[in-house]
Amino acid sequence: MKIEQAVRVKQIPPYLFAEIDRKKTELREKGMDLIDLGIGDPDIPTPRRIIARLIEAAQKAENHRYPSYEGMLDFRQAVADWYKRRFQVSLDPQTEVLTLIGSKEGIAHIPLAFVDPGDYVLIPDPGYPVYQVSTIFAGGTPNSMPLLRETHFLPDLTKIPAQIAGKAKLMFINYPNNPTGAVAERPFFEEVVEFATKHGIMVCHDAAYSEIAFDGYRPMSLMEVDGARDVAIEFHSLSKTFNMTGWRIGFAVGNREIVGGLGRIKTNIDSGAFQAIQLAGIEALNGYGTESEEIMGIYTARRNLLLKGLRAAGLEVESPKATFYVWVKVPNGYSSAEFATLLMEQLGIVGTPGIGFGGAGEGYIRFALTVGEDRIREAEDRLKELKV
Ligand SMILES: Cc1ncc(COP(=O)(O)O)c(C=O)c1O
Repeated sequence: MKIEQAVRVKQIPPYLFAEIDRKKTELREKGMDLIDLGIGDPDIPTPRRIIARLIEAAQKAENHRYPSYEGMLDFRQAVADWYKRRFQVSLDPQTEVLTLIGSKEGIAHIPLAFVDPGDYVLIPDPGYPVYQVSTIFAGGTPNSMPLLRETHFLPDLTKIPAQIAGKAKLMFINYPNNPTGAVAERPFFEEVVEFATKHGIMVCHDAAYSEIAFDGYRPMSLMEVDGARDVAIEFHSLSKTFNMTGWRIGFAVGNREIVGGLGRIKTNIDSGAFQAIQLAGIEALNGYGTESEEIMGIYTARRNLLLKGLRAAGLEVESPKATFYVWVKVPNGYSSAEFATLLMEQLGIVGTPGIGFGGAGEGYIRFALTVGEDRIREAEDRLKELKV
């Protein structure tokens, strides 16, 4: 029998990191000591208080059964309490909060609830690849919104043609931004809400990095803006805030019809997040702030060291205000993939070529601050030998 994949699977864009992955394996096999700044997965362990709560909860039989698809009310209440404390936004935990098996799960599922074939979805370019793939899976048409340095890596909404805005059903935005490290302020969020209201577009704001911010900066929630709750949903994650990427727990908040639509998909696809993990998640959120300073201290030291090394090597880079990514301009004469290969071959430093996040990411390379300070120091040292 010939095994034929579905058209939607064939439509997934080519995996642009394949060549980098091949090169990584080849160099490792040759014995090269690679410093891998390619992966956005924190190396810092989950706080002990959260692990302790999981252990306790996992031992109770009542937590071994199917959870409710929308999440435990106690978890959703903890989310609402956290939102109130952190953003001064009140949410109804019953109707405006949904537990997710990581924010990726919600981002991947939301177009299934609202996008029909023929609908456009506005997507940041460069951007987290799941926005595009989830749109394709739902039969929608992704439409890029370029994030350019001239506009501080915010999409220029005035450049979206009226006929595209008219066909758009959904818009993804993501601040603090992966991969550029850019942040958004109130005027931008207000413009988004106004644009979305005018054109009848639902906004999905991915705020997975809202708690990874440097030098006392506090990213705001889209939900703080008047009218946001009429048009928007916001995705959050415990992954980066509490170093819990492997645990798979996140949440969505906002417009009750959008939250409800996503919930409807989830009831039919998954069976919710393991209760013991939700109980550990309550512990995480209720104790929010306990570790923030320590975690940000670690990223700050790493960021400063890497910036120093990159700048000393003559590379152009802005200091990110948030996220654990550093978005570096590729020197003239190289594509992002060529420069990533050169860095790997010459210095054993792995970065992610910007092209992998979309066409507008060309000309940049992303480094993640997710390895220890000793390794970043080593990278800083190796960068002295860079020849371009
Ligand atoms: C921008 C962005 N959104 C969402 C996610 C998904 O995070 P999680 O599913 O762990 O909550 C990631 C993960 O790297 C990300 O970079």
